[in-house]
Amino acid sequence: EEALSEIAALPKVELHLHLEGAAPPSFIRGLAAEKRVDLSGIFRPDGTYAFEGFRHFLQVYEAATGVLRSPEDYARLVRAVMEQSAEEGVVYSETFLSPDFCGGGDVDAWRDYLAAMVEAAEAGERDLGVTLRGVVTCVRHFGPERAKAAARCAAETAGEWITGFGMGGDENAYEQKDFAWSFDCAREAGLRLTTHAGEWRGPEEVRAALDHLGCERIGHGVRAIEDPALVERIAEDGIVLETCPGSNVALGVYPTLEAHPIGKLRERGVTVTVSTDDPPFFHTTMREEYRRLARVHDWDAEAFRDLARISLNAAFCDAATRERVA
Ligand code: ADE
Ligand code: ZN
Repeated sequence: EEALSEIAALPKVELHLHLEGAAPPSFIRGLAAEKRVDLSGIFRPDGTYAFEGFRHFLQVYEAATGVLRSPEDYARLVRAVMEQSAEEGVVYSETFLSPDFCGGGDVDAWRDYLAAMVEAAEAGERDLGVTLRGVVTCVRHFGPERAKAAARCAAETAGEWITGFGMGGDENAYEQKDFAWSFDCAREAGLRLTTHAGEWRGPEEVRAALDHLGCERIGHGVRAIEDPALVERIAEDGIVLETCPGSNVALGVYPTLEAHPIGKLRERGVTVTVSTDDPPFFHTTMREEYRRLARVHDWDAEAFRDLARISLNAAFCDAATRERVA
C-alpha cells in the first residue's frame, strides 16, 4: 500500500486528454444553469454523466459541449481542467481541442477561442505548475469536409502552443485515408500528427493511420495487439501509443484491466504511454490509472518514472518546454 501511494504521487505526463471530455459534471451543470439550458437528460441522479456505450457517450459529450459557447467559457474550462490535472500530479498535459466546437471551423472565431484558452493556460501554469499544450483535433464522424476546416484552423495557429493535429470521434465512420488532405495540410504547417485508431476497429485501422496519414502517435492503438507483424512494426518504428486503459474498460473495449494489452505491448517493445481520455465520463483520474496499473502489473516506482520520461519524450512540444518540465 505504501508503494502504491508512492507510485500514485509521482509526477505524471498526460498526452491524450479531450478538453471537453475532461469537464467536471458540476462545471457543465453550472454553465447549463447560467444559460438556462436543460441538460438533466445527460446526468444520473448522483450527478455523474449518464450514457450506455460509445455512440451514446459521443452524444452526451456533444450535448455537454453545447453549453460551452464563448471564448470565456472555454477559458474557464481550461482553468477547471488544469486544477484537476494539478491535483493528480500531472506536470505536463497535451489537450485535444476541436475548432468544430470552438467557432464551428471558422478561422477568425477559432483564433478568439484559442487566445482565451492560451491566456488561461498561462495563468494556470503560473498558479498550478502544470504546463498545457494543444493538439487540434477534427471529429471523424463530422466527415472529411469539416475536418479540412479544422486542419486549416490548426495550420493557421501552429506554433509553440498548438503543437499537433489529430482526429477523434467515431472510428466506424469513414476511413482514415478520407482525411489525408487534412493531415497533409497540418504536416505542411509543421504540426505533429496523431489519430484515434485501433480502439473500435482492428489493426487495419492502425496500419491505415501509419500508411495514409503518416501519424507518429496513435490514440489508443491497443488493438494492434491482434496483428503480431504490426506490433513489430510499431515497436521498430518507435510509433507511440497513447493508451487509455480506464477508458477502454469503461467503454467495454476490454472487459477488465487484466484483459487490457498494455502489458503485452510494452513487453514487445512498443512505446506505450498512459492517459485518461475523458476522466469524469470514465470515472478515472491519472492517479487512479497509476494505482490500477500498479496493482495489475508488477511495475515498481521506477517503471512509472520511466513511463513519465517516455511520455515527455513523445510529447509534441519543443525541446525547451520538455527540458523545463522534466
Ligand atoms: N472523443 C472523446 N473521447 C473519445 C474516444 N475515446 N474515442 C474517440 N473519440 C473520442
Ligand atoms: Zn480519445
